[in-house]
Amino acid sequence: MKPYVYVARKMPESIIQMLEEQCDVSMWEKEDEPVPREVLEKEIKKADGLFCTITEEIDQDLIDKAENLKIIATMAVGYNNINVQAAARREIMVANTPGILSDTTADLTFGLLMATARRIPEGVDSIRNGEWKTWAPFHLIGQDIHGATLGIIGMGRIGEALARRAKGFDMKVLYHNRNRKHETEINLGVRYAELEQLLAESDFVCLMTPYTQETFHLIGKEELKKMKNSAVFINTSRGGTVDEEALYEALKEKEIWAAGLDVFEDEPIGPDHPLLSLPNVVALPHIGSASERTRMRMAEMTARHILQSLSGERPDHLVGG
Ligand code: DGY
Repeated sequence: MKPYVYVARKMPESIIQMLEEQCDVSMWEKEDEPVPREVLEKEIKKADGLFCTITEEIDQDLIDKAENLKIIATMAVGYNNINVQAAARREIMVANTPGILSDTTADLTFGLLMATARRIPEGVDSIRNGEWKTWAPFHLIGQDIHGATLGIIGMGRIGEALARRAKGFDMKVLYHNRNRKHETEINLGVRYAELEQLLAESDFVCLMTPYTQETFHLIGKEELKKMKNSAVFINTSRGGTVDEEALYEALKEKEIWAAGLDVFEDEPIGPDHPLLSLPNVVALPHIGSASERTRMRMAEMTARHILQSLSGERPDHLVGG
């Protein structure tokens, strides 16, 4: 009998064919809706492999329902939605997709930085809404990117890819990380700073950390107060790393100049989210890694991890080892 794999989000035909060569597969078919919890609970009971994404909450309760599960493969680098310890206790492997999305996510992060600093969405809207009456000397003035100081909090693969882009804009790059990265400092010409110093000196603060207990609300009221009034804050990591109420206040009170956000604490947010009422917020719907090529590569890597584990091989990218 072939192993059974449940694919919790709709995937292209080629990904399903790849899995079907060795497995029986079924898939949640609705493109715009995550799988309901009760369906996932039923499927996990019988599945040998689970193909999931960031929209599925793979908690202890769910994992405890699994009877045959050998692998949880997520089509993401971040895995804060998976209780990895609970999986380990049941000897279930967890695999993610690091590396292949770093450049794509850094592209988007830099694009968001530029859009926020130069008020690009406001400019687009002003034309569409018929508000452009004349060229004016101080209309929609923004912040310079070239020559500015960029502070990167979390110098992993994506942080490094961002630093490389910043160097092309003659930016001075500071970084803060759990451990100092001497080789990166030499290779990329970046400088380590304590968090406080980075916040005080940076014109742009980019949050690139994984979301863990330690990084929950890493940026809150106190940290925002330490930033320059002209600072632009960018978050493409996970929403929970920022205290959104404190961010709202800081933006409203002009303690910082603007924010570009690709992630939110409780996704998806609706149009009534308080942050969207502020003109100095550029918001995106969590699309950091969303390029055609990268999302396909992430899906293929996830399917490969499942096939590897179910044929007794070690998946290429196991979380925690
Ligand atoms: C990730 O990979 O963690 C992104 O947030 C989703 O692509």
